[in-house]
Amino acid sequence: MRAREESEPSMVETPAADAIFADPRLAQLYDVFDGPRNDLASYLDIATELRARSILDIGCGTGSFAVLAASQGFAVTAVDPAAASLAIARTKPHADRVTWQHGGVDSAPAGPVDLAVMTGNVAQVFLTDRSWADVLQQVRTRLTPGGHLVFETRRTSDRAWERWSEDSDEATIPVPGIGAVHHWRQILSVELPLVSFRHSYRFPGGDVLESDSTLRFRTDVENRASLADAGFAVVDVRDAADRPGAEFVYIARS
Ligand SMILES: C[S@@+](CC[C@H](N)C(=O)[O-])C[C@H]1O[C@@H](n2cnc3c(N)ncnc32)[C@H](O)[C@@H]1O
Repeated sequence: MRAREESEPSMVETPAADAIFADPRLAQLYDVFDGPRNDLASYLDIATELRARSILDIGCGTGSFAVLAASQGFAVTAVDPAAASLAIARTKPHADRVTWQHGGVDSAPAGPVDLAVMTGNVAQVFLTDRSWADVLQQVRTRLTPGGHLVFETRRTSDRAWERWSEDSDEATIPVPGIGAVHHWRQILSVELPLVSFRHSYRFPGGDVLESDSTLRFRTDVENRASLADAGFAVVDVRDAADRPGAEFVYIARS
């Protein structure tokens, strides 16, 4: 089976993605440095619990969850504004069962899905109240009546950024086809609710590529309020199975 593509030209502007996802040389490092994805099985469990059959994976990145869900028989559409990450996603087993779309949630096909997900803390890339509210509205228009949105977001109280510049975040890892790549991260600013940081990667041969990111940390109160404002009912807020105490996992019904 060939991978399905959306052939309609999109009038929607593609959001900018950070270099770590959008630069082909950095995108190819993502899965290796991210390590085993112990976070994804619980999303599959929730999809089964909610009796979802179709899933929209928003900010799918290199497609780890999309292909896992497709392998389990879910009908999956996956969107991401980083073409380099999508190119990697398309090479994975079961990628031919996923409908891939380059862009943000507003580029997703209109056909409604039972479940929308944002794995890997995608919710934190939406920095302003306006952009987050817009995304939630767009998600709602793509859900079946009573469909669900499930996403995770780091707890501000866990102060994850304090661990990001420790030695434990610095590593040299062999990357297939490339060689040993050295990574380190610097915090650029902590001006809550925004945290900015820089990933640096030194490639064999000496090239150093950098990627700057900013994430928004929302409180539980803010998350619940934004979901309610967008017309979602919060069904449950859980601990992340793989990172207890560090993240909230929201299950919201449209
Ligand atoms: C930390 S990665 C998570 C990727 C994937 N969900 C995972 O679990 O591996 C964040 C992703 O959000 C994507 N992203 C950035 N801006 C976005 C936007 N406006 N809409 C949708 N996705 C976006 C990035 O390109 C990147 O792939």
